Amino acid sequence: PEEGVKKIDIEIETLNKSLKIFLVKTEGSLIALSPVCTHLGCFVNYDRDSMEFICPCHGGRYNINGEVVAGPPKEPLHRLPVKIENKKVYVGIKI
Ligand code: FES
Repeated sequence: PEEGVKKIDIEIETLNKSLKIFLVKTEGSLIALSPVCTHLGCFVNYDRDSMEFICPCHGGRYNINGEVVAGPPKEPLHRLPVKIENKKVYVGIKI
């Protein structure tokens, strides 16, 4: 994203598996966040109005950096390693 949050869907054809991640760009830095809530593992959604990631299961809320701001989660959303090379973004994911 130029600025803000973009959801990326990743298809891994050889494993017949799909994943999603969030790329977040703020003030020149780019981070990749796992969409898996650290409470009990539901998928969070990004709410553009509040600029928070919201978990539909028990109301967990995370700020744009993935830090917990409300609800039962005790840990932030997991950050994934990111590398930018030749204008391409590489994200490390565990499969
Ligand atoms: Fe997300 Fe419980 S699984 S708040």
